[in-house]
Amino acid sequence: MAKHYFIVTYGCQMNVHESEKIAGILRAKGYSSCDAQEEADIIVFNTCCIRENAENHAYGNIGALKKLKRARRDLIIAVGGCMTQQAGAAEKLRKKFPFVDIIFGTHNLEELGKFIDEKAGGRKKVVEISDERDDLGDDEDISYRTSYPNAWVNIMYGCNNFCSYCIVPYVRGRERSRRPEKIIAEVNSLLDAGYKEITLLGQNVNSYGNDMGKAFTFPALLSDICKRKEKFRLRFMTSNPKDFGEELVRTIAENEQVCNLVHLPVQAGSDRILRLMNRKYTAGEYLKKVELLKKHVPDCQLTSDIMVGFPTETEEDFQATLRLVKEAGFSTAFTFVYSPRSGTKAAAMEGQIPEEVKKDRIMRLVELVNSQTREISKGYLGKTTEILCEDYDKKKGLYLGRDEYGRMGYFKSESNLIGQFVNLKITDASGVSLYGEVQKPNTKEERI
Ligand code: 5AD
Ligand code: SF4
Repeated sequence: MAKHYFIVTYGCQMNVHESEKIAGILRAKGYSSCDAQEEADIIVFNTCCIRENAENHAYGNIGALKKLKRARRDLIIAVGGCMTQQAGAAEKLRKKFPFVDIIFGTHNLEELGKFIDEKAGGRKKVVEISDERDDLGDDEDISYRTSYPNAWVNIMYGCNNFCSYCIVPYVRGRERSRRPEKIIAEVNSLLDAGYKEITLLGQNVNSYGNDMGKAFTFPALLSDICKRKEKFRLRFMTSNPKDFGEELVRTIAENEQVCNLVHLPVQAGSDRILRLMNRKYTAGEYLKKVELLKKHVPDCQLTSDIMVGFPTETEEDFQATLRLVKEAGFSTAFTFVYSPRSGTKAAAMEGQIPEEVKKDRIMRLVELVNSQTREISKGYLGKTTEILCEDYDKKKGLYLGRDEYGRMGYFKSESNLIGQFVNLKITDASGVSLYGEVQKPNTKEERI
């Protein structure tokens, strides 16, 4: 009988992409996907630990499987991802969830197939958490993807920055760049297969190549990928402002394929807080980089990650964040309440901020960000924007896709346009989403 897998993914795009790798491993072992946990022969949790609530979600959902496991002894439950890689986490998981069969760390993902064999061969429980991987995952063969016409491509792993609040450097290890020729080969094969949007992934893409003697930089990588002349979009995340510079800005300006949307996490607007966060730039320096970007790429939009409630943050510090959000003119932003992560410097700092103060600040921040998003939406009304059609929303009965700036646009179509670029004349743009009508190619319309 056919065996089925079910993967539960938490966290960032890196994890979503790694779940594709997990799916590829499981498919190679003869499993196919299914729509419900109850139908699965193996359930894999790909976890995140960047904030406490991401962990709590995973804990809750893993715990809820106890019953299912009791009823079905042959069900395999595996837990991997960032949560398992934290100091002491494997032991904690083992105690809390004795029914989990396989616990694997971020550096052990490629071995999942082997762990399943070991389990089938009678090993009672597999717990494998390596400290660091010695190979780069350079030869990774992504045999299965779930996001056509978009594809993610890892260009580097890990992070060396040790921002004082962040657990990532502890659970993902030091920066390791993939060889440029491997990345370019992967991108080329995706474009050959008809993918239309490539997103390059790394915790800090600007330091790409630093571990290879700087022989190859991130802008050089972008330029090389853009030698392909067919129409496609190239995105990247995440850029760290401290290393964001003129060469990259020029590369964005010169290559049509590189989207004019930059995700540049600022985190805070107060220099004192930025220093405590170990971000290595001031608010003024950040805004200078924004200015540089806008000078070279005038139609560029900017998004960001912003945090409230970092230890010792005062109302005045928070006001500086609000000012910066306005000055930088973010089109949208991911907003977070600071969450102490055990083992990081900030978790041990004095002056942790009470929950109700954090809540009040996040509400005010979200309101400001949303008002800026709405304002930019209004600018879309009556104009035409190019959408890459990604999917069909059954509930709405509409096709959908994003424009260059990441805005979701919905529209009616008789034919299936998934994987095609479509010009959309926007008729409704009240919130974050756009609604419009498909325009014939070459219609002369005012463009966004
Ligand atoms: N608490 C809250 N937000 C965090 N981030 C990283 N660590 C924490 C934390 N401990 C946010 C940052 C980062 C994004 C991916 O998650 O804003 O840019
Ligand atoms: Fe975390 Fe800072 Fe590295 Fe981003 S750059 S992953 S916030 S330590």
